[in-house]
Amino acid sequence: MLDYIDKNRDRFLNELLDLLRIPSVSADSKFKNDMLKAAEYVRDRILEAGADRAEIYETAGHPVVYGEKLIDPALPTVLIYGHYDVQPADPYELWDSPPFEPVIKNERIYARGSCDDKGQFYMHIKALETMLATNSLTCNVKIMIEGEEEIGSSNLGTFVKEYQEMLKCDTILISDTSIIANDVPSIETGLRGLTYVEVEVIGANRDLHSGVYGGGVANPINVLCEMIASLKDKNGHITIPGFYDKVEELTPDQRTALNAAPFDLEEYKNELQIGDVLGEEGYTTIERTSVRPTLDVNGIWGGYIGEGAKTVLPSKANAKISMRLVPNQNDDEICELFTKHFESIAPASVKVKVVPHHGGLPYVTPTDSVEYKAAEMAMEESFGKKPIPTRGGGSIPIVALFERELGCKSILMGFGLDIDNLHSPNESYGIFNYYKGIETIPLFFKHYAELKK
Ligand code: BES
Ligand code: MN
Ligand code: MN
Repeated sequence: MLDYIDKNRDRFLNELLDLLRIPSVSADSKFKNDMLKAAEYVRDRILEAGADRAEIYETAGHPVVYGEKLIDPALPTVLIYGHYDVQPADPYELWDSPPFEPVIKNERIYARGSCDDKGQFYMHIKALETMLATNSLTCNVKIMIEGEEEIGSSNLGTFVKEYQEMLKCDTILISDTSIIANDVPSIETGLRGLTYVEVEVIGANRDLHSGVYGGGVANPINVLCEMIASLKDKNGHITIPGFYDKVEELTPDQRTALNAAPFDLEEYKNELQIGDVLGEEGYTTIERTSVRPTLDVNGIWGGYIGEGAKTVLPSKANAKISMRLVPNQNDDEICELFTKHFESIAPASVKVKVVPHHGGLPYVTPTDSVEYKAAEMAMEESFGKKPIPTRGGGSIPIVALFERELGCKSILMGFGLDIDNLHSPNESYGIFNYYKGIETIPLFFKHYAELKK
């Protein structure tokens, strides 16, 4: 297999670059046609890799690509999941090269989606091709690549319910997460959940002269800032009543294990060029970014932001607020707690509106399962080092739903790095990581089939 990968090295990369040229931004309707183009490209490459079939399935939103190679009903079945949609590339001016014209620099592929998740799910298509071309496939393979992960996968739940029988599998393999470093392999054993809301604070019925009315009526921007500031106390605890009620606290042993992962606070600060870290009192940076819930403003706007100065009391202010959730917290419940609390802290001088966006449940996977062992063995074989289990801070909303609807656990065998700039300008993916993934995935299949015997 290594020989086959080596012989096809350039083509494997060029095919990914072609996929990266398609601006499949799910959030922005002006790219709707590119979403379809990306789906067609993925379908065609799955067929070319040797699948029995691959098709595009329409949904109420962007289409899902599904393909399969079923070789023997007696063998275990692995479902591969990934997403062909990407985050918006804005702000374009901060990119050193155009986001949808991939370039290779310093052994890295620069483009929106290079790591999240095109570069990572494409490794699976090339691994499938490699296994089929070298007669080494040891499992049945199903592959589902969706187009709405970055906007919350809200139509995928319906798809999974409708096609439950078609998607039936023994385990799910996903490459959409990170490792600690190229010489410190790791496997994420958890994901945080998410609740995302948009709030509006409304003052007077129109914008007002800030001299004539200023000091006498509420300024919605000032009020919104005060309300947001009050959502955390001076120790970084979230003040929404009931917010922590269901949060699972780690045992001292679990905390020790979690904090044993290599982490250098000075290096972390230097890399981000920050004077200090900031977070919830009593928890380490590793804990704050994985097993503790958060509340963050993702965007805030209102009033005059054009050139020069305008003396005005705006009539409205808005913010987008997200909360990352940890095991036992429920996204709908937290959304309700937030809404009730936010409405209750608004002074009578303003009205507030809270509109929920998407959400998702947190997820954890055990490290004593056959599929985790298979991933561990695969990574140990390809990296030459046993991977460390870590808890991820990001969210992949469908993973908890897979568990509920398909009754199986997902293995988060990702190959990205924290420096890949996911969702940010100059996103990139290491060439090393791309090929390492293509090498490691067939080893997962090999070990999984052996362990399942
Ligand atoms: N691949 C990421 C999630 C991720 C990144 C997990 C790095 C672990 C390490 C995924 O594409 C993502 O960005 N998810 C969103 C979910 C949301 C839009 C519903 C997230 O985490 O913000
Ligand atoms: Mn992703
Ligand atoms: Mn993402």
